[in-house]
Amino acid sequence: MKGIILAGGTGTRLHPVTLAVSKQLLPVHGKPMIYYPMSVLMLAGIREILIICAPEYHDQFRRLLGDGSRLGLELSYAVQVTPKGLPEAFTIGAEHIGSDSVALVLGDNIFHGSSFSSVLEENSADVDGCVLFGYPVSDPERYGVGETDEQGRLISLEEKPVRPRSNRAITGLYFYDNDVVDIAKNLCPSARGELEITDLNRNYLDRGKARLVDLGRGFAWLDTGTHQSLTQAGQYVQVIEERQGVSIACLEEVALRKGFIDADTCYRLGEELAKSEYGRYVMRVAQEFRDVPALPYV
Ligand code: DAU
Repeated sequence: MKGIILAGGTGTRLHPVTLAVSKQLLPVHGKPMIYYPMSVLMLAGIREILIICAPEYHDQFRRLLGDGSRLGLELSYAVQVTPKGLPEAFTIGAEHIGSDSVALVLGDNIFHGSSFSSVLEENSADVDGCVLFGYPVSDPERYGVGETDEQGRLISLEEKPVRPRSNRAITGLYFYDNDVVDIAKNLCPSARGELEITDLNRNYLDRGKARLVDLGRGFAWLDTGTHQSLTQAGQYVQVIEERQGVSIACLEEVALRKGFIDADTCYRLGEELAKSEYGRYVMRVAQEFRDVPALPYV
């Protein structure tokens, strides 16, 4: 399975902060925002990842993440000239996807919860159709909303409905089979003038090929769309990290635990950032891993 991180858009709701900086490069408690969705794809075991961003930020993303080889990844980059909608990720990324299945994650979505790695691995294997991830929210009208029957089967999908049929938001993480490229190519813009991911997902739903995985209330799916939610996301990460002494979305740690890099490489990467708390954490994790390599990913 290939991965795509869509990190474009204009970030207008965060102006003036995002007038000169990409939203997905803003800090969320000590890490650039894009580290969070990147860690999700890595946890799913995906190593070939395309990062799509606005043209003016292409160099910054590349400076931050390079070609990914340091983390045992293959990263490539593409630009989205104007934000025409999320499904454009699949036409821009058609060559990257090739004949494979693909996971799309939005560059501003933060996920955190126990056993997430297993949930991702189970659901990304042999995708036939699409897999969507649902999460209960208090304000479903702000999101794509999924309705299910008594058996938990998905029966309807609506984008930002005025009267939502459920409180289950469809999060910004999607797994698709290879049909997605053709479906995206043939999609028409909605009344808003944009290509809608919900229209694309409805194509799968109408053919009985859309599956919903509930992330459940014990899980955290955080928003970064406004200054308030961005601050709250940072606070959430801070509370968990300080309480547990483990880092959320530390890419070097994920690469180590997934077997993409070895402990010596991980330690060296930490050393390069040793003046920061982040770098010292990476060194400590590598050291501990050398002593007890079987430590599960938490
Ligand atoms: O976050 C989950 C939600 O994401 C889903 O529940 C909705 O179904 C889906 O439509 C989307 O809703 P948003 O209102 O969050 O979409 P927005 O236009 O804000 O775009 C989400 C992110 O993707 C944002 O960081 C900007 C980026 N983006 C957006 C568009 C339209 C792009 O990179 N390119 C684009 O063309």
